[in-house]
Amino acid sequence: MALFETQVGIVGAGPAGLMLSHLLHLKGIDSIVLEARSRSYCEERVRAGVLEHTSVQMLHDSGVGERLDREGLRHEGIHLGLNGILHRIPFVELTSKCVTVYGQQEVVRDLIARRLEDGGDLRFECGEVSLEQIATEKPLLYVKNEGQVDEIRCEFIAGCDGFHGVSRGAFPKGSQCTYERSYPFAWLGILAEAPPSQEELVYMHHQRGFALYSMRSPQITRLYLQCAPDEDIAQWSDDRIWSELQTRLVCANGWHPTEGRVLQKGVTGMRSFVVEPLQFGRLFLAGDAAHIVPPTGAKGMNLAFADVHYLAEALGDHYRNGDRRRLESYSETCLRRIWKAQRVSC
Ligand code: FAD
Ligand code: PHB
Repeated sequence: MALFETQVGIVGAGPAGLMLSHLLHLKGIDSIVLEARSRSYCEERVRAGVLEHTSVQMLHDSGVGERLDREGLRHEGIHLGLNGILHRIPFVELTSKCVTVYGQQEVVRDLIARRLEDGGDLRFECGEVSLEQIATEKPLLYVKNEGQVDEIRCEFIAGCDGFHGVSRGAFPKGSQCTYERSYPFAWLGILAEAPPSQEELVYMHHQRGFALYSMRSPQITRLYLQCAPDEDIAQWSDDRIWSELQTRLVCANGWHPTEGRVLQKGVTGMRSFVVEPLQFGRLFLAGDAAHIVPPTGAKGMNLAFADVHYLAEALGDHYRNGDRRRLESYSETCLRRIWKAQRVSC
């Protein structure tokens, strides 16, 4: 058995785990990040694409916003479509803030590159992780890989391993309350090699079901169709998808999406999920490990960033001057924002 020690053991190298490791590093706190998948898998997984103002600020302020500044698409509003008529919601006019379209996989790529440049300990394809002794001052992570077991002695553990991770399951029975709702529909999403024909996102109401027009770059569009939760993607040829998108998204002014080669397609279920509290002993959950919002509000990655911002600040207080107040109120602080995001996404 190999032994390692770290201040914060982080399970999961998604946006939450990577950003936490980066923010802790800036505060002089060391961490080890354990990731089940390969680096290339993490860097290529297409998911979120809309960063709120506070997330952009966080990437910026922590020194990982350079490519985002160059390549991110600043959107000053969105369109809500009803009966083929678009109604613009001018974010900047209403709130003085805008959103930025920049793929989650680009954020992940930037954070991995920066962690490695800074000498960060990221362990991809780490093997099977288990959490022990989380109620004590010395929680442990065990990593089993090809017959070898590593023991990582931590002072804190951050469970950033998404909805299907192992961290949430390490809470003792009865210590958490779970709230969950599944919706009777899903989104069939595609990534297409087609330049955006509209500068801002379009959320379209249609009698055949909702459709969303989004994008990733000046060359790539991202589109979604509301479908059944058990929709069989094999029944959807590219032609059928485009035809349905054109039917639902066409506007009275003649606007419709530009078509192109379909690069990826998949069905995403819709679920609202929250656990309370987010902390037990020295284990803290962040991001999708603790909550899932349906993608309607584009809130998931932004919530994950908000969680780890609070967690990094709280751990900073603890290591700087032994002040544990923000660690103790971590769950309550995060849950206020999480429930608001649940409501708007629902
Ligand atoms: P994840 O990204 O899930 O990362 C968790 C990591 O932990 C993964 O890399 C996983 O491999 C790893 N892991 C899991 N189990 C283990 C284990 N046992 N051991 C080690 N590692 C493990 N959000 C937005 O903000 N805006 C959007 O526009 C948006 N659109 C979306 C569209 C779609 C189609 C989907 C599916 C999601 C969307 N989201 C959006 C949500 C967003 O993608 C998630 O909220 C975000 O990925 C959460 O980050 P995370 O780091 O908490 O979890
Ligand atoms: C996306 O671009 O993937 C996207 C945009 C807005 C949403 C959800 C997803 O509300």
